[in-house]
Amino acid sequence: MVTPRDDLRPLLRRACLGEPVERVPVWLMRQAGRYLPAYQQLRRGGDFLAFCKDPELCARATLDAARLLDVDAAIIFSDITVPADALGLGLRFAPGPIVARPIRTRDDVERLPAVEPRQAMGYVMEAIRLTRAELPAEKSLIGFVGAPLTLAGYLIEGAPSPHWPELKRLLYTAPEVATALLDRLTELLTAHALAQVEAGCDVVQLFDSSAGELPAAELERFAFASAGRVIARLRAARVPVIYFARGIGGQLEQAAALGADVLGLDWSVSVAAARRRLGAEVGLMGNLDPAVLLTTPAVVEARTREILAQARGLERFVFNLGHGVMPPTPVENVMALVETVKRHGQAGAAR
Ligand code: CP3
Repeated sequence: MVTPRDDLRPLLRRACLGEPVERVPVWLMRQAGRYLPAYQQLRRGGDFLAFCKDPELCARATLDAARLLDVDAAIIFSDITVPADALGLGLRFAPGPIVARPIRTRDDVERLPAVEPRQAMGYVMEAIRLTRAELPAEKSLIGFVGAPLTLAGYLIEGAPSPHWPELKRLLYTAPEVATALLDRLTELLTAHALAQVEAGCDVVQLFDSSAGELPAAELERFAFASAGRVIARLRAARVPVIYFARGIGGQLEQAAALGADVLGLDWSVSVAAARRRLGAEVGLMGNLDPAVLLTTPAVVEARTREILAQARGLERFVFNLGHGVMPPTPVENVMALVETVKRHGQAGAAR
């Protein structure tokens, strides 16, 4: 059997699996977003959902960002809410996702159509095939889905909502309906993630951006329980999986117990503290405050090096932000971050 040379196998994938790496891999959540002039050009103010459904534009946006930043992974350009369109719920963006027919009752859940992601979201898989064909072999292509609870939040509210009141109303008054919805989404999102892997992704990230809105008991019963099922199914299929849940620092141990290869940290828990609490064997990703990218290259470098120092000796570590790049971010600061990780994140320094 021929073993591919290590330096031609994606660094991020190796890091996720705990295999030897020459340095800490780096990529950024929302690296292909609005802060990039090239993305603004491609979008030209057109309809965002139409953009997501155009595989060539999505492949272009994905590749442009990965090339410009020279990061170790591209993340396929799409959105965690596109399954709402596949489910026929009437999705549009303004600029956040708006669902015309939100889910509020058992009938709403029971009326959801059976959806085959390869058909209903075939444009995502086509964008992945186009991207993989152009992406260098040593770079990962990350597929992603929202975690069931976070996607459920958008489907139930019908629009981004700071405190998720309708989601919580459902959890508190009709937990069995919420569970039925989460079960349906667990199936759909697992199938969607596996279809992305089949199309060419070599790592999957689960975004649980709203998990931290829930009280401890509901976080475990609804968010972690459903995310854990997606993670278990992906791991059974030998797919490296990153679980990024925001605002869950109080229950980091329970999040780590879900068994993802790598746990994404927001900036509220330091890498040093996470490592003390979880042990050096748990894979971690993070966690520079995206607001640091609004400062200067020198500040970015200093803050980045602090995190690298905290990660030194970890078996599995991936450099990222604690959440997505913000629209007003200067590109030169993002480049300074990537260069700093490449210069100071070598094996030995990081392991
Ligand atoms: O490089 C990349 O990461 C781009 C691909 C990507 C997008 N959305 C494109 C996008 C990814 C990975 C996402 C994930 C996503 N979408 C999440 C999880 C990450 C997070 O931020 O917590 C969430 C919660 C969404 C839902 C969503 N989509 C919101 C709340 C919004 C509103 C505006 C915003 O940027 O927060 C969107 C729209 C969206 N998705 C944009 C982009 C580039 C902006 C739309 C535009 O260009 O007008």
